[in-house]
Amino acid sequence: MTTVLAIETSCDETAVAVVKNRQVYSSIVASQILIHQHYGGVVPEVASRQHLETINPAIAQALLQAKLGWGEIDAIAATCAPGLVGALLVGTTAAKTLAMVHQKPFLGVHHLEGHIYASYLSEPTLEPPFLSLLVSGGHTSLIHVKKCGEYETLGQTRDDAAGEAFDKVARLLKLGYPGGPIIDKLAQQGNTKAFSLPEGKISLPNGGFHPYDASFSGLKTAVLRLVQQLEKTGKALPVEDIAASFQDTVARALTKRAIACALDYGLETIAVGGGVAANSGLRVHLTTTASAHNLQALFPPLKFCTDNAAMIGCAAAEHFDQGHTSPLTLGVHSRLAMNQVMELYHH
Ligand code: KG4
Ligand code: ZN
Repeated sequence: MTTVLAIETSCDETAVAVVKNRQVYSSIVASQILIHQHYGGVVPEVASRQHLETINPAIAQALLQAKLGWGEIDAIAATCAPGLVGALLVGTTAAKTLAMVHQKPFLGVHHLEGHIYASYLSEPTLEPPFLSLLVSGGHTSLIHVKKCGEYETLGQTRDDAAGEAFDKVARLLKLGYPGGPIIDKLAQQGNTKAFSLPEGKISLPNGGFHPYDASFSGLKTAVLRLVQQLEKTGKALPVEDIAASFQDTVARALTKRAIACALDYGLETIAVGGGVAANSGLRVHLTTTASAHNLQALFPPLKFCTDNAAMIGCAAAEHFDQGHTSPLTLGVHSRLAMNQVMELYHH
């Protein structure tokens, strides 16, 4: 068993957690949403400066809540890719410094591997192989989880990520940032059948459509056109109905691809991760469709869907148990494919 102190600063949450494998001792998330809301989205330079201010108190708080001292920590981990480079640097530099000062091993973690590991926090008995549906603000992928560190991306979005689509549609409806939670709330009072919106499909060169790849930019444009048309009538916008119809279209598009992929690859479990895994429409639609196909859909609790450090610690503990550690010379990367995860470790 391995106790890890983990840091996550890839975007706009300064998060620190202490976990013992799949058990969470503490999970501190200091959100910067109120600061970035002012600009309508994340401002990278502002994010880095805010991480710098928050990181040390967050580390102290995580240890205090876990009731542990440095002597009981086996390894120190930080998200090192993908994400905003300046933001990633704050967390990784803090983790490496602590690793040097306290003479502990250091592990760099791939942010998306962390989102996959969030499923183990709620389902500690889950074991690969399974299919991961990763739906966040920056990514939308279907990943075949073969074992710790071994991933194959089977499908992805060709343009906007699902969370990005929620954020953009919320912006054009003038609802604020981040859009996902606001649209989700409004959608619950709207009619999903009020407007028929197009589900983006990726054509194949020899006819037909890609079974697992998705596209959300056309859907966003369709919502824009709909809003422009409705505005011409001079009546108040039916935002609840627009939100419900949009959310339902996204939930159906994601569900259809995830189910087809799980069935084709003989994977019985679909573990969903990332901020959009918090979406109530997706949770209901995927759960019922999966059970109709004798498949299991797993969703982490809401606090582990959006960015947190507990999922990073969980991934790091598993790597450490496999004998993987990272060099202190490890850099940060704004992008890193899932099949390059093992490049982060000596093994
Ligand atoms: O995983 P995450 O916290 O950060 C990234 O790694 O990107 O995901 C953030 C994204 C945002 O786009 C946000 O709008 C979306 O997740 N999100 C949601 C919900 N809660 C957060 N989207 C739909 N419904 C929600 N309830
Ligand atoms: Zn994330």
